[in-house]
Amino acid sequence: MHLITLIPGDGIGPEITKAVTDIFTAAQVPVQWEEQNAGQTTFDQSGELIPQALLTSLEKNRVALKGPITTPVGKGFRSINVTLRQKYDLYQNVRPSKTTDGIKTRYEGIDLVLFRENTEGLYSGLEVYDERLGIADSFNRITKEGSRKICRAAFAYADKHGRKKVTLAHKANILKMAGTLMLNACKEASNEFPHIVFEDKIIDNMCMQLVGKPEQFDVVVTTNLFGDILSDLCAGLVGGLGVVAGANIGDDMAIFEAVHGSAPDIAGQGKANPTALLRSALMMLHHLGEHQHADRIEKALEATLKTKEKCTGDLGGTASTSEFTQSIIANLQ
Ligand code: NAI
Ligand code: MG
Repeated sequence: MHLITLIPGDGIGPEITKAVTDIFTAAQVPVQWEEQNAGQTTFDQSGELIPQALLTSLEKNRVALKGPITTPVGKGFRSINVTLRQKYDLYQNVRPSKTTDGIKTRYEGIDLVLFRENTEGLYSGLEVYDERLGIADSFNRITKEGSRKICRAAFAYADKHGRKKVTLAHKANILKMAGTLMLNACKEASNEFPHIVFEDKIIDNMCMQLVGKPEQFDVVVTTNLFGDILSDLCAGLVGGLGVVAGANIGDDMAIFEAVHGSAPDIAGQGKANPTALLRSALMMLHHLGEHQHADRIEKALEATLKTKEKCTGDLGGTASTSEFTQSIIANLQ
């Protein structure tokens, strides 16, 4: 039995985490949840954004499934997601995007995995504001070690999963120091994996290439801000934010969560698509070595996705979150 920290989160978080735990229960997955929350909801209840009990649970279990979290904006709070990623050095944010039978898109044959550096860059939290001058500086801190780690992780993943190519998306032509540091780190990592093709693309061209011919990409590695933006773009290529999974991975801890946020516009209405969080939970099962359970649930999910009327509104269906969930459970073989 695996003991896992479960963070329901805010907005649609509780609805989609319930969908996942219901499916896991029905599939008799050997997982026991330890529920701990963070974010707006806990702040409203206790005045704490990240309760100590959550940190203790994470440090004990080392694996978590997390719903999206709302960080109150404009009140001086640091993002909870960024805080957790930095505190536990979860330096890889791994986000696969794949076209799926039944999910209508303009594309075919997309199967790429984005590796977003998850702890530094423009999200390093190094910001100063000079009120007298009216100037704000946000530092784009890139380190040699941080770049080496994320680039190496992307190549090691490609190697392990039989993928052929790694593309670095960067802006070294303008960011002469930070961009070049990352580019050089990636070239160095590529030397260790001569059988994997390495290419680099400037980020603006990368966006155009992704929208025009996304099936050319395999593994993509990039910095924190570019990765944040590219992952929503890639979600848009394969069916939207409701369907793409993610994982924050460090050397000794992993937190699995969807790419999307707390979707306040549809929260509490039974409209949220739990696919993205469910797929994140399946990544978690693979991480735990529970491949058979992951494959069985994935097959049931795929069967439901092929039946339009069983899908949620974002996929053109009419089902509620719980009807969608029940359909997956009914499709478990
Ligand atoms: P969002 O990702 O929450 O929503 C963007 C759009 O996608 C909305 O129209 C929403 O309804 C739709 N959407 C998202 N997930 C969906 C799902 N599972 N099923 C169906 N439709 C879905 O982004 P937004 O609105 O910019 O951010 C809302 C809040 O979420 C903010 O407070 C933000 O800070 C937070 N956020 C948290 C993240 C996390 O915890 N990892 C990641 C991104 C944003
Ligand atoms: Mg994002």
